[in-house]
Amino acid sequence: MQLKGGIHHASPIYLQSSRQIHGSASNSIESVSGISSDMDAVIDQVMQNSSELRATNIPGIGTKYQGKVRDTYDLGETTVIVTTDRQSAFDRHLASIPFKGQVLNETSAWWMRHTTHIIPNALIDVPDPNISVMQKCTVFPVEFVCRGFMTGSTDTSLWTHYARGEREYCGNTFPDGMKKNERLQCNVLTPTTKAVDHDVPISPAEIVAQGLMSQEDWDATRKAALALFEFGQQEALKRGLLLVDTKYEFGKDPEGNIMLIDEIHTPDSSRYWIADGYEERLADGQEPQNIDKEFLRLWFRANCDPYKDDVLPEAPAELVKELSRRYILLYQMITGEEFVPANPSIPPSERINSAIENYIR
Ligand SMILES: Nc1ncnc2c1ncn2[C@@H]1O[C@H](COP(=O)(O)OP(=O)(O)O)[C@@H](O)[C@H]1O
Ligand SMILES: [Mg+2]
Repeated sequence: MQLKGGIHHASPIYLQSSRQIHGSASNSIESVSGISSDMDAVIDQVMQNSSELRATNIPGIGTKYQGKVRDTYDLGETTVIVTTDRQSAFDRHLASIPFKGQVLNETSAWWMRHTTHIIPNALIDVPDPNISVMQKCTVFPVEFVCRGFMTGSTDTSLWTHYARGEREYCGNTFPDGMKKNERLQCNVLTPTTKAVDHDVPISPAEIVAQGLMSQEDWDATRKAALALFEFGQQEALKRGLLLVDTKYEFGKDPEGNIMLIDEIHTPDSSRYWIADGYEERLADGQEPQNIDKEFLRLWFRANCDPYKDDVLPEAPAELVKELSRRYILLYQMITGEEFVPANPSIPPSERINSAIENYIR
């Protein structure tokens, strides 16, 4: 399959020879290279004007549901998803990150456009860099988590379970003697149910036995999820990234066709590592290189108690800017295309509202 964009170049090593910036006495982070000075200036402009997209309020178009990152409007036959610049962790809002919403929305749209040969998806239109209009589907109450590596640190992570001695997980069996971050013999699906505030691992047999999905629907979506994941890994590797794990959601359209919904292969729904040097680092017992947001979480942990404090301190501007640069760099690495920022001179809520008005008119 031929994809558009400059996807044939080998990726430079973005984290080498980069300068250090300092967030606080106890933290220092690397500033990634690969972002143009023009792009840096646009990020500065957004931060000076406080024109990050923090929240939306589109009157009179349908019921609003506000998630941690996205605002979803139910229009009856369609679902409008606005991805904002909100950054959350510890179940709290930490900061607004310039262009994060655009990066997530456009990364997902890019993958949806390039995966229709595997399964149809609900994306109808992208009328604004932060907006996806989707066909409304009946959502299967299962999150399709795909994994290619033995990793993770949260309660539902594969490595957490394996390190405790468990060898069976969500209907998969793993051999003894595996190391953290090692590649699995083959990709696996470790589904979870969509519980209100936490995800619960479940096996395919339980999914069918509990009536969450029919066997036929399960078989078809399982196949699609693994095929999407394998395709995602192949494409990511062409541009120097390992797609480590990800999460998909599927639903049915009114005709009963199974569709990919929600988002696909974004930096928020997926883990990406830098492919270059992965084997050497694994052999040396080092963690793989990634371009991630862990440094912002660490800053909050060092400077307040994010689990208990009523009011959180404001994140340092240089850390917010660095996270913006990392999201943009990830967009460019994942898609192989240059990131074109939304016009920073128009206040984003104005832009969003008029894009929706034009779209539904
Ligand atoms: N095409 C679609 N049809 C119906 N529901 C969808 C579609 N795409 C996404 N959704 C749902 O929209 C919601 C988006 O919410 P999200 O911003 O992810 O918040 P949360 O933090 O609750 O996950 C999810 O519940 C997802 O299942
Ligand atoms: Mg979600």
